[in-house]
Amino acid sequence: MQNPWDANLYQEKHSFVWQLSDDLLNLLAPQPGEYVLDLGCGTGQLTQKIADQGASVIGIDADPTMIAEAQRQFPQLTFVVADARHFTLPSPADAIFSNAALHWIPEQTDVAARMIAALKPGGRLVAEFGGYGNIATVLAAIAQARQALDLGSFPASPWYFPSISAYTGLLEEQGFEVQFARLYDRPTPLQGEDGLLNWLQMFATRFWADLSSQQVQDLLPKVVAIARPDLYKDNQWWADYRRIQVIAYKSL
Ligand code: BEZ
Repeated sequence: MQNPWDANLYQEKHSFVWQLSDDLLNLLAPQPGEYVLDLGCGTGQLTQKIADQGASVIGIDADPTMIAEAQRQFPQLTFVVADARHFTLPSPADAIFSNAALHWIPEQTDVAARMIAALKPGGRLVAEFGGYGNIATVLAAIAQARQALDLGSFPASPWYFPSISAYTGLLEEQGFEVQFARLYDRPTPLQGEDGLLNWLQMFATRFWADLSSQQVQDLLPKVVAIARPDLYKDNQWWADYRRIQVIAYKSL
């Protein structure tokens, strides 16, 4: 992951990351005794939910502050700092679960190669992350605000938001059999009047890393003002999330 994470801000203001994940957990349907990898586990809330269903689970995340917080909150579980592009497991897994993590890694061919190597034959991948068109309104508002303030061109996006065909094709090239994939809009509520501002400061600092603090102070309110007609509804901020959800198997 490329953003310097603030595990406290993540924990306090962005709990929707794991609270909206029951659907994905239902797709995983972990069974007692299964060995499950939670790939990009963040602060570990979903890792715990998987363990609650009787599976033996390991959580990995590239960010040491996230893993430290996960281990503090769930000391009985196993968490390891590891990069999804290079990880190995102590033994092959029955399932890999990944929520809201894969879009941080452009090198998805490497990740898919590691995932299939980490699964038992017949093992499954159940993943959800940002899909094609994700947060298009937020990104357009940042671009428009930079342009309006004459702050130069829009820095490249750090995120991987693939179409169904791009991602399932990539999985198939690595040997997965894709059983299910969908791309769907999931408008996501952001907490409080500063919801969008907090989201930007948590996730999008890359888009103003080249600017002075004064320029950033001018930019952020402008981004918020531009996005407001589209993303502030019924006294609530909404991020225009669009997710890709996938179930794929390693052949027997
Ligand atoms: C997402 O969950 O879709 C997301 C989160 C942070 C940055 C970009 C996308």
